[in-house]
Amino acid sequence: MALVNMRSLLKDAQNGGWAVGSFSVANMECVRGVVNAAEELRAPIILQIAEVRLPHSPLALMGPLMLAAAKRATVPVAVHLDHGKTISCIQEALSLGFTSVMCDGSELPIEENIKLTEEVVSLASKYDAAVEAEVGRVGRGEDGSEAEAQIASLDDCFRMDKTGIDALAVGIGNAHGLYAAAPHLRYDVLEKLNGKLRAALVLHGGTGLSDEQFQTVISLGMRKINVATDIFMAQAAACQGSDIYRNIVSSVDAVSQVVKRHIRLFGSEGKA
Ligand code: 13P
Repeated sequence: MALVNMRSLLKDAQNGGWAVGSFSVANMECVRGVVNAAEELRAPIILQIAEVRLPHSPLALMGPLMLAAAKRATVPVAVHLDHGKTISCIQEALSLGFTSVMCDGSELPIEENIKLTEEVVSLASKYDAAVEAEVGRVGRGEDGSEAEAQIASLDDCFRMDKTGIDALAVGIGNAHGLYAAAPHLRYDVLEKLNGKLRAALVLHGGTGLSDEQFQTVISLGMRKINVATDIFMAQAAACQGSDIYRNIVSSVDAVSQVVKRHIRLFGSEGKA
């Protein structure tokens, strides 16, 4: 129970044919809402925060909070740096005790992306932390900044898999934030990767996908699914009036409802 390596969660998900929810947190209310949901449904989860969010939610404060919540939890919780862009930030997360880090070199040419990922795999191995990489590109930045979605090339995925990563985020037409129109996910790419990689497949951009899309990608091998915007919108909507403590209680509950819905959809309920 408590703080675990993401690797063990992905292995269980792979063996069981379900997906681990990786939930983004911005503050204490998010952290408590996510962990409450996981405990109530007896589900293993991942708590994550992206580098681009750190100006608002500093790692030096959020990291210890996330780790403390994981250690106190009665279900397995991995603590993950999402979209790590710089070695200094990845190093800080590892030093704090994060059990996994993402090395997002998706804006780089594939050779440079692989080189950067290899550096992070070597760094993370000193902490026995897991590593996630990205091939192709998830559309829009985690913070809503513009970035065009790019479909992952199979060859690049196989090359990246050889770096020793534990998880691979693949661009299949998915994007962060709200989709303007229902996304067309490239299931054909997943069909060709499913069962062929050492690394577990990761889907970013969970907000706005239909139940059927979640079920299909899980049946095609997705083992970690990221959700952020749905959580943040639920918290924002739950805050009304000037009673801060009432807002804290309603925020935690609103986040918990969103996370429970995803845990059920991902098939991870009762897997703790
Ligand atoms: P959404 O904001 O679309 O849920 O995406 C979350 C995500 O992929 C974080 O990396």
